[in-house]
Amino acid sequence: MAVLDVIKTRKSIRKYKDTPVEAEKLANVLEAARLAPSARNLQDWKFIAVTDADKRARLQQACGGQRQVGQAPVTLVVCANNDGVMSCGQSKTTIDCSIAMSFMLLQAEAEGLGMCWLGHFYADQVKQVLNIPDDYIVVAVSPLGYADEDPAPKPRKAAEDVICYNEFK
Ligand SMILES: Cc1cc2nc3c(=O)[nH]c(=O)nc-3n(C[C@H](O)[C@H](O)[C@H](O)COP(=O)(O)O)c2cc1C
Repeated sequence: MAVLDVIKTRKSIRKYKDTPVEAEKLANVLEAARLAPSARNLQDWKFIAVTDADKRARLQQACGGQRQVGQAPVTLVVCANNDGVMSCGQSKTTIDCSIAMSFMLLQAEAEGLGMCWLGHFYADQVKQVLNIPDDYIVVAVSPLGYADEDPAPKPRKAAEDVICYNEFK
């Protein structure tokens, strides 16, 4: 599938079947993250795939009780260390991890799997459940699994409202 087709068909999935994710598909999703670009190619990140049911139940609590976390057979957690503010004023860690997470969202779609980027989580609790060192920042969490819903696509702003050429308009 062409990349734009994957982008067009991807949707956040919040209901999952308990069907396990095949090891090869999970590896492909994680490989997409590993190959993502990062500032100065430092790759100071970890991608944690959680399949243990007890840990996923605890992660559900760390994500404000969002049921999709305990329901999906895998929870993906993206974290990184050595954070620094780049000359553009942005956090390297946040951007690096966000790119990696985006690559995983698209690879999951290409594998016929669903994900849902979660920003609603308590980082300290996630770190405790997964033994993530103090100097790591947890940037994103997502369930991964086979969709048990087919939600309507969420609307996007019109191209003319968000795209401009040559100057801000
Ligand atoms: C940074 C970020 C944080 C998000 N946090 C949550 C969340 O905590 N819980 C949730 O159900 N969805 C969360 N979402 C999913 C968004 O609600 C969703 O991407 C948006 O409504 C567009 O829908 P779509 O992904 O189906 O296109 C988050 C998405 C992003 C990018």
